[in-house]
Amino acid sequence: MNLETHHKKIESLLKQMTLSEKVDLLSGLNKWYTVPIERLGIPSVVMTDGPHGIRTEGHGSNRIVGTATAYPHGVAMASTWNRDLIERMGVGLAEETRQMGCHIILGPCVNIVRSPLGGRNFETFSEDPYLAGQIGVAYVKGVQSQRIGVSLKHYAANNQEIERFRGNSVVDERTLREIYLPAFETVVKEAQPWTVMCSYNRINGIYASEHEVLLRKILKEEWGFDGVVVSDWGAVHDIFSPIQAGLDLEMPGPARYFGQALEAAVNTWQVDECLVDDAARRMLGLLFRAGVMEKVELPKGSGDTPAHRALAREVANEAMVLLKNEANQLPFDRSQIKKLAVIGLNAISVVSGGGSSRVDPHHWATPLEGLRAKLCNDMEIFYEPGYDNRSNPRTVEKERFTHPDGQTQGLQAELFNNLDLSGQPAVTRVDTQIKNWWGGGGPATGVIDPKHFSIRWTGSFTPTESGETQFFLSNTGTARVWLDGELILDNDVGLRTSSNIDGESMVAKAALKLEKGRAYAFKAEYISGERNPFALVHLSYKPALGVEGDLLERAVSLARDCDAAIIVAGLSDTFESEGYDRPEMDLPGDQDALIRAVAAVNPNTAVVVNAGAPVAMDWTEAVDAVLLAYYPGQEGGHALADILFGDVNPSGKLTVTFPKRLEDNPAYINYPGVRDVYYGERIFVGYRYYEKKDVQPLFPFGHGLSYTRFAYRGLAWPEQVGTGEDFKVSLTVENIGEVPGHEVVQLYIRDVESALVRPVKELKGFEKVYLAPGEKTKVTFKLTPRDLSYYDPHLPGWVAEPGEFEVLVGASSQDIRLSGTFELL
Ligand code: BGC
Repeated sequence: MNLETHHKKIESLLKQMTLSEKVDLLSGLNKWYTVPIERLGIPSVVMTDGPHGIRTEGHGSNRIVGTATAYPHGVAMASTWNRDLIERMGVGLAEETRQMGCHIILGPCVNIVRSPLGGRNFETFSEDPYLAGQIGVAYVKGVQSQRIGVSLKHYAANNQEIERFRGNSVVDERTLREIYLPAFETVVKEAQPWTVMCSYNRINGIYASEHEVLLRKILKEEWGFDGVVVSDWGAVHDIFSPIQAGLDLEMPGPARYFGQALEAAVNTWQVDECLVDDAARRMLGLLFRAGVMEKVELPKGSGDTPAHRALAREVANEAMVLLKNEANQLPFDRSQIKKLAVIGLNAISVVSGGGSSRVDPHHWATPLEGLRAKLCNDMEIFYEPGYDNRSNPRTVEKERFTHPDGQTQGLQAELFNNLDLSGQPAVTRVDTQIKNWWGGGGPATGVIDPKHFSIRWTGSFTPTESGETQFFLSNTGTARVWLDGELILDNDVGLRTSSNIDGESMVAKAALKLEKGRAYAFKAEYISGERNPFALVHLSYKPALGVEGDLLERAVSLARDCDAAIIVAGLSDTFESEGYDRPEMDLPGDQDALIRAVAAVNPNTAVVVNAGAPVAMDWTEAVDAVLLAYYPGQEGGHALADILFGDVNPSGKLTVTFPKRLEDNPAYINYPGVRDVYYGERIFVGYRYYEKKDVQPLFPFGHGLSYTRFAYRGLAWPEQVGTGEDFKVSLTVENIGEVPGHEVVQLYIRDVESALVRPVKELKGFEKVYLAPGEKTKVTFKLTPRDLSYYDPHLPGWVAEPGEFEVLVGASSQDIRLSGTFELL
């Protein structure tokens, strides 16, 4: 939205504001709200996390309450390669953001996948900047079409979680320009995001929040970004350099640097007031964009609608990637199957990445539920867990707790403004789980002292399975848990600061034999301790699996007895998360052995993999069918059943190369670094590296099979292109198989000879088409001089070097069907 129309009003407001009001506008009130200026009728802007659904959480006045549609995660969205679909999903996300009373969703995340181990790979789109940019544009256009804003994140070179708050990404300029910045650049130029979130890390020694070259020079001046640069939560470390560099908004609140400290800095001539004015002007622009400054009619919001559920399923349907399908093993023919074995703990779980992007959905469909819903009248379905992949426990869910009123899901929470739970509670409310890191405002802003409080939770806990249940309590201060009156966890770890927050030493564990379905009286207490800078508590568990004996043997014997077996394999809920990286690429819990053993007794076996990033799969030779389901969101179970039984033809394509071994990954030697992370592979990230070095991956970038076949014909391209000219490439694609389906047609450019070393080829276009059997269509790509260019840091600038180029069109980076040579004059 163009701010020109509001220019006069913004300038007039700015003139009326005192310095103190201007700096107020530049920081948060609490975790999600900006500071309102009542005197001038300026309300707060409210933000909440994305990217794949609206995060509902928080307590007190900054609480965002409710449940939200959980869409497939970022990498899965991008695997659809479908701009139109992601734009529609963006509209759905915006409708829910509005319904939650928020104005901005904190996403999308367009950081590049560098190492398979990066904890937040699942949240982002791809190893390829072009693809990440295109999907980012679609997402932002969709959201912002509803007059809800986005926060494009995390700017920049933020590609791992190890040392996430202070790590230093050491990246040369060409690599930044060609790999780590273009997705941001494209989204800024083509979709005008309302805000961009700078990352926690440093880039070449300078914190992203203080990086004048990245924020002011490149983002604002060169790319013309007219929105607000917001800090990642807690990423500001100074009063002076961030405002100088172009940071506009410090989050979360209350301000540590941009409030009174900034005002004092202006008053003592250490900061020029015009810098504050620029930031305040941008904040006012944001308020006008959000429509909160005037009585405008805003699009209507909506929450759990059939349309949103259908959209979540559609995205999951198009995201899943059929990696292998020997002898057309899939789709399964339901008329041939009387008994189906569904194996894997992930078949009864809904796996999702962890951290700020976690969504509390309206409902979850597990794979087993999805299969049962589709097939219950056609066949008998049996389940075995097969493996235990739970390396980390998961948060005890609200469904397990019942409030003392006997009805409400969750626990009664009583909050006290003292350290001994004495007297009347200052706040009584329902908490759905015990998982809190009380930054900023504490557990109830303005009512409870954030550094000096205690909480008691009461209700009951009901397990879903009988057997050994393990509980884990992680906290600062003191926390205790009682079950049926017995103290089972007692954890007194004292106060912690950012330098001694360390997972393991803060965890108490207990293992108890519990009975399925029985309600156990539950009580827990938390005491922050005097002036605790990091008040946190987390109650997690590993529920009993509900079976006796050897998991693998039980699964094998079931598979032997059935006509087909589906193994739902992969990572469990807590492997990929914000806050940490994975230690390795292997599948946990003996899954490799299980897959081989099941396939050996039942050749009609398909393996489904849940992961948001590459995992090692050295068993692919042993099975005929492998489907990558990612973390497919709340409708994932249904989407999976649709694909396995042929109601939907798979069309997802990999956005990240799957290497055979972790050691093959280009970042392997320099990852994770210590505090400095050398981006030593430079521009050779993902397929750019595997191709240059001729290292065969397990599955290449862009790969994904279909139940039908497509023919590519009639490539038309200019044999000569003038310097500075746009040009077109076209071809015809025909569905020559038996069933309808989508195909993702990919266009790569190769610079045959160049002064600087270049990748073998680079993605510069794609189109997704849907064709009935026998149907054909013409696909046209428009290319620009930039698509032929590399970045020369000595100019500095983009260079399209005259000489020979190739245009390569295919179904994956390794499955090129048509090519042509042309000369750049
Ligand atoms: C994350 C962001 C998130 C923010 C607010 C940060 O720790 O890095 O992605 O949007 O918290 O929850």
